[in-house]
Amino acid sequence: MIGRLNHVAIAVRDLASATALYRDTMGAKVSAPIAQPAHGVTVVFIELPNTKIELLEPLGEGSPIAKFLERNADGGMHHICYEVDDIIAARDRLKAGGARVLGDGEPKIGAHGKPVLFLHPKDFNGTLIELEQV
Ligand code: CO
Repeated sequence: MIGRLNHVAIAVRDLASATALYRDTMGAKVSAPIAQPAHGVTVVFIELPNTKIELLEPLGEGSPIAKFLERNADGGMHHICYEVDDIIAARDRLKAGGARVLGDGEPKIGAHGKPVLFLHPKDFNGTLIELEQV
């Protein structure tokens, strides 16, 4: 069921300095900042040979990462995203196994224009999991 690692998302307070760190110090290829008001974040995509890193900065009121940054003043890993072929089948299998799906349990269109779901971190070793249908 579980497929490739699609991305690791890191919440940051200062997107410009985090981007500069990856671009200048790490030598990574980074995108321009992309505002995603529907998701309450501004994102920079970092392309690595085998996966992506997404830097997330809060955007607007009620950003879903604002509380995370209150608890993690230096920023930190926010979630990891695994690819699945069939997100409904994956959801039903996980729910049958006792995992909790966040929100109303229905897939939403995520930051890449594809259906996504989030799984409760308490059911996954303290890590927020995103599933993306590819
Ligand atoms: Co994500």
